Amino acid sequence: MTVLVSEQRAVLTAEDVLATRQAVRQRAVALGFNLVDQTKIVTAASELARNTVQYGGGGTVTIEALEELGRRGIRLTFADNGPGIPDIELAMKDGYTTGGGLGLGLSGARRLSNDFHIDSKPGEGTRVTITRWR
Ligand SMILES: Nc1ncnc2c1ncn2[C@@H]1O[C@H](COP(=O)(O)OP(=O)(O)O)[C@@H](O)[C@H]1O
Ligand SMILES: [Mg+2]
Repeated sequence: MTVLVSEQRAVLTAEDVLATRQAVRQRAVALGFNLVDQTKIVTAASELARNTVQYGGGGTVTIEALEELGRRGIRLTFADNGPGIPDIELAMKDGYTTGGGLGLGLSGARRLSNDFHIDSKPGEGTRVTITRWR
């Protein structure tokens, strides 16, 4: 697998969430994603960026354009040094929220992606990586 482009951005504020959406949309368009696939990766990015701000105390997103076996994709890595998630399995369940949300962000992002990884340790932070192929 080849990383064609890599860009890291701060995700600290609501404006950064919007800017993340726009940057992911741009990258998806540049890679030739159709409108439906653009919307899927942008929606997933939006949910994860909001979690980074709301629960992680802010962090970063790395946006990568990938190529493998002639296909192209986007990989997004959201990382923060916040409180972490004590029970990842529970946090992944539809409807589970500690913040009065809908509890569909993590599970939704997983459904909208081809590949989903979450790594979190209480007191250390959270890292979520998703990939969507064209
Ligand atoms: N980056 C993060 N740091 C700490 N906890 C998180 C993070 N992302 C998600 N969580 C935890 O996982 C729960 C579920 O997240 P999510 O599915 O996006 O639902 P919601 O945002 O509606 O609460 C959150 O309520 C929170 O407890
Ligand atoms: Mg959320």
